[in-house]
Amino acid sequence: MNDALAVNAECAASYRTPMQALDLAPSADEVRAEVITAIAGPQKMLPSKLFYDEHGSGLFDKICELPEYYPTRTELGIMRDYATEIAFAIGPRALIVEYGSGSSIKTRILLDHLRDAVAYVPIDISGKYLVNSAAALQQRYPDLSIFPVCADYTRPLVLPDVDGTVSARIVAYFPGSTIGNLEPAAARAFLTSIRTTCGRESGLLIGVDLKKSPSTIHAAYNDAHGVTAAFNLNILRRLNHEIGSNFELDTFCHYAFYNPSLGRVEMHLVSEKQQHVFVPGIGNIRFDEGETIHTENCYKYTLQEFTNLAADAGYRRKRVWWDAQNWFSVQFFEGEG
Ligand code: AVI
Repeated sequence: MNDALAVNAECAASYRTPMQALDLAPSADEVRAEVITAIAGPQKMLPSKLFYDEHGSGLFDKICELPEYYPTRTELGIMRDYATEIAFAIGPRALIVEYGSGSSIKTRILLDHLRDAVAYVPIDISGKYLVNSAAALQQRYPDLSIFPVCADYTRPLVLPDVDGTVSARIVAYFPGSTIGNLEPAAARAFLTSIRTTCGRESGLLIGVDLKKSPSTIHAAYNDAHGVTAAFNLNILRRLNHEIGSNFELDTFCHYAFYNPSLGRVEMHLVSEKQQHVFVPGIGNIRFDEGETIHTENCYKYTLQEFTNLAADAGYRRKRVWWDAQNWFSVQFFEGEG
């Protein structure tokens, strides 16, 4: 049996099925502790994972449909155009471990084309979301074994013991270029932890946004309808609601720009006036006019840069697919034994 599938008693006991509606979303205390650390430095920051409460996740779904936001539809186009090749690269009897929701059209394209998939293991921090998406997928694929795992996938975890997987080929699936929201060093560490979880020789199918014209990237994070602005500001609304801060949302504005030399989009919230904001656990924080809170980075890579990054985590690239404009890539790797 693959090491990663050998669930020890302790870890097995820590699993709950999402059918019990377990939700590992951070508690208010955990959110407060993270905010205190992030916002106290000379460059005020907030962790981008805080975007995704229920309202923020809804706004993100809207972003994915915006004409300016090319990544989602471009990745989807690649999945549609090359589904047969992708499935062939993965091979038969795959156990797909998806890092994230598992409700997307991309997942369905993948599952539609795989031959004899052994099982599907979506991992998500939100138990409620996981229950719903797993139930919908089970209806569509009645013969597929689906084992949802409610966990914070940024931390190493042990896969559930799935019957019949001894000879399965484990492939991690991480679409959406979410890897770009990690600093390159953290991205390397995360890929290493995926390999630890899924097995040293496991496969990895990953969506990676590519470097391109700065104006195309800039527009994707500055849409005309202000949805990305609302998504960015939602983090302050969430903090007011969850930890009792008193950010005045209309005194902060969305600011996002692509920095080509760092190969990343930076998202900030800019204080439009000098003000004090009360944050429980810290007290009053002073903001100068024009001072920013850095809320997110979105790294873009060349194919070679990402190959090198993945190689540092022990992955060798086997195949890569991209769109006609060279905007986005779907890459398939295998772990080196
Ligand atoms: C989730 N992630 C890949 C998105 C991105 O493009 O980095 C998050 C996002 N932030 C603003 N717009 C979209």
